[in-house]
Amino acid sequence: MKILIVNGPNLNALGQRERKIYGAETLEELENQWISYGASNGVEVVVFQSNIEGEIIDYLYKMKDSVSGIIINPGALTHYSYSLRDCISAIEKDVLEVHLSNIDKREEFRKLSVITPVSCGKITGLGKEGYILAINYFILKNENK
Ligand code: DQA
Repeated sequence: MKILIVNGPNLNALGQRERKIYGAETLEELENQWISYGASNGVEVVVFQSNIEGEIIDYLYKMKDSVSGIIINPGALTHYSYSLRDCISAIEKDVLEVHLSNIDKREEFRKLSVITPVSCGKITGLGKEGYILAINYFILKNENK
């Protein structure tokens, strides 16, 4: 089974960016943890990050047929990107939305996710472990098929 983990704008700056909110580990460190968690559970985890909305959309279209599930943290695109929302709706794949911080507990503008209505679910506020839970969701779903 292959799962994609896509991270959007500014998540490349993890480790330097607002560490109290997002933690001290870099994206590369986290990605390595997700990849090895996947590997020890028989799952190939493929990672991608871009600060560019269109690149994320192109990548999702390119990869959609070769993966069983997609985990996405769209960063701030969460709150306003109708293009990303339309793409997720179009690709007809299970897309699980993940946020490191609890977007419902922060500034008002973060409470709206235009992605949630087209995602299969949302994990928010559980830090890097949220991605591990998301990987587990796809593992369980595949086992119970
Ligand atoms: C985020 C929350 C977003 O509001 C923010 O713009 C991010 C990261 C999170 O993981 O908590 O870039 O998606």
